[in-house]
Amino acid sequence: MRLRGKSALITGSARGIGRAFAEAYVREGATVAIADIDLEAAQATAKAIGPAAYAIRLDVTDQSSIEAAVKAVEAKTGGLDVLINNAAIFDLAPIAEITRASYEKLFSVNVAGTLFMLQAAARSMIARGKGGRIINIASQAGRRGEPLVAVYCATKAAVISLTQSAGLDLIKHRINVNGIAPGVVDSDMWDQVDALFAKYENRPKGEKKRLVGEGVPYGRMGKPEDLAGMAVFLASDEAEYIVAQTYNVDGGQWMS
Ligand SMILES: NC(=O)c1ccc[n+]([C@@H]2O[C@H](COP(=O)([O-])OP(=O)(O)OC[C@H]3O[C@@H](n4cnc5c(N)ncnc54)[C@H](O)[C@@H]3O)[C@@H](O)[C@H]2O)c1
Repeated sequence: MRLRGKSALITGSARGIGRAFAEAYVREGATVAIADIDLEAAQATAKAIGPAAYAIRLDVTDQSSIEAAVKAVEAKTGGLDVLINNAAIFDLAPIAEITRASYEKLFSVNVAGTLFMLQAAARSMIARGKGGRIINIASQAGRRGEPLVAVYCATKAAVISLTQSAGLDLIKHRINVNGIAPGVVDSDMWDQVDALFAKYENRPKGEKKRLVGEGVPYGRMGKPEDLAGMAVFLASDEAEYIVAQTYNVDGGQWMS
């Protein structure tokens, strides 16, 4: 019960990695807002997790939605202790085919969504005066470019950079900002990734996913649960002295 009594908000937690974070946080004693643009899915997830989870509709691209979500957590639990910025979207295209619409959508969710969610959480934590934890979900894609993945890679590099700046700025308020960089994780997002690679690399569906999994030094793709231990640790008392870092949790993928 390393998070006993903590109140957490996890963006994009109706499914996938965010859902695994929510399940682990509840097991460790936290109350968790399942905050997602898909309210119905968030409600089903909260119901499946149990009474310590509750659903909130949140669109991280909408400032009023961000502010309402933080207020809802304050009203429900008395204050926000932990934010996980997990919501993100993916797209893929060769440089010559990237559209401005795709660029703007990805930066709006993955970068502006992370920054302004982080800001709203930090304002709430500063006003309360009890510190807090903010965990940003980056990616191995933020550590290097890829020929077809320019925009998504750039958004995740920005998340790592924002984690550094916010970490250095907010630690004086005892708000620790850190990040996690997953490698390849079997989720709905990866099914979309696989379909896009199939289109641009002329492969049968499922092949890219299989090859990528085989290439991970650990021997398989990650599962959402593989990320949860680091997310619990970064929110726990044991991580008090950790500031502005982004940790790879990737079965050795980045190192290889
Ligand atoms: N799956 C991977 O291989 C992988 C690898 C590295 C990093 N990541 C990162 O991990 C995080 C979770 O990924 P996942 O695979 O679980 O993705 P996913 O697509 O399965 O889930 C994303 C969730 O975010 C929600 N969402 C989308 N737009 C939103 C918005 N505007 N406001 C609020 N919620 C919104 C979706 O409804 C969905 O529930 C993301 O930040 C992703 O970039 C994933």
